[in-house]
Amino acid sequence: MLSIDLSGKVIVVTGGGTGLGRAMTETFVKCGARVAICGRRSHIVEEAAQSIGPAVRPYTCDVRSWESVDTFLKQVILDLGTIDAVVNNAAGNFLYASERLSPKGFRAVVDIVLMGTFHMSRWAGAYWIDNRRPGHILNIVTTYTDTGCAFVLPSAAAKAGVQALTLSLAYEWAPYGIRANAIAPGPFPTQGAWSRLMPGSDFEEKYLQRLPTRRYGNYAELGALAAFLLSDLAPYITGAVIPIDGAERLQGAMFNYLAQITDRETLYHVFEMMRQAARSE
Ligand code: HXC
Ligand code: NAP
Repeated sequence: MLSIDLSGKVIVVTGGGTGLGRAMTETFVKCGARVAICGRRSHIVEEAAQSIGPAVRPYTCDVRSWESVDTFLKQVILDLGTIDAVVNNAAGNFLYASERLSPKGFRAVVDIVLMGTFHMSRWAGAYWIDNRRPGHILNIVTTYTDTGCAFVLPSAAAKAGVQALTLSLAYEWAPYGIRANAIAPGPFPTQGAWSRLMPGSDFEEKYLQRLPTRRYGNYAELGALAAFLLSDLAPYITGAVIPIDGAERLQGAMFNYLAQITDRETLYHVFEMMRQAARSE
């Protein structure tokens, strides 16, 4: 039986006190890792660490600030001895019409997502290179990094930047044994995302109907993918951006709209009529 073994590894997860960060932390602990989680709200990370168990250490850190990241990661090394991987999961996002967006609102998201990921990656990369240690940067992006996305302009721009950062560092730091990958989740209901991005139950129903799998992702699926990528089972995977979205991102392909006809007999009938019509031309 093949299982994912992270024992002996120290993993840092930003935004690890809530949602997907917390879920990944739970999986990493089940696989034997020790995990340092951070967020701006100390009570949230403390509660998460307490409930998951002693393998999790909570820290207060604001990834927008280089000084805060520097203090945080130095303390993790003092407490846990080293850092083997950094998961850049902390993010900000909200729905808004771009023509009404204030510069401060745009910056609020870009500072967390893009600057935060840069601060964490820059600090960890220098640590690994200076100490001749291998390392891994795992960035959580979204499925709209290549397409852009209406009504979430700051997030789309920042996550595209994070994707470029991932690919750039994968190549630049490969000679040092440092890997850089990204996971692009589709919809996974979390309190943080849903409260800001899902306008109501009517929208949710329509949204679900558009998903080819007719379901959201579940946390264990994401945790397993992240744990696999961080493990010694995946040493040759670097510079990858891996979607985990039940094919949701593909709905724009030209004829995919026909999948809305869920009754197969109706579909066969439509195609047959078209075939007959083409024959008689
Ligand atoms: C319009 C908004 C806004 C909103 C904030 N602003 N929220 N504008 N609609 N809902 C504007 C404010 O008006 C202000 O500008 C500026 O942004 C800064 O607001 P603050 O509240 O002071 O910012 P801050 O405290 O830094 O909070 C950052 C935040 C907040 C991003 C705005 O929502 C946050 O802390 N989020 C963290 C968690 C989160 O967002 N999780 C969701 C991740 S989900 P002015 O000029 O008015 O003062 C995700 C999923 C992607 O990324 C894919 C899903 C499928
Ligand atoms: P979430 O629960 O709101 O997670 C965001 C986390 O980031 C919170 O724990 C928050 O804690 C932390 N954070 C925000 N600003 C920070 C800062 N300046 N410094 C440190 N920590 C900060 O949302 P989620 O749904 O789990 O999202 C997690 C990740 O998955 C994000 O990268 C998101 O873009 C990505 N994603 C989610 C979905 C989805 O459907 N849920 C889809 C695609 C991608 P504090 O507020 O305490 O700081």
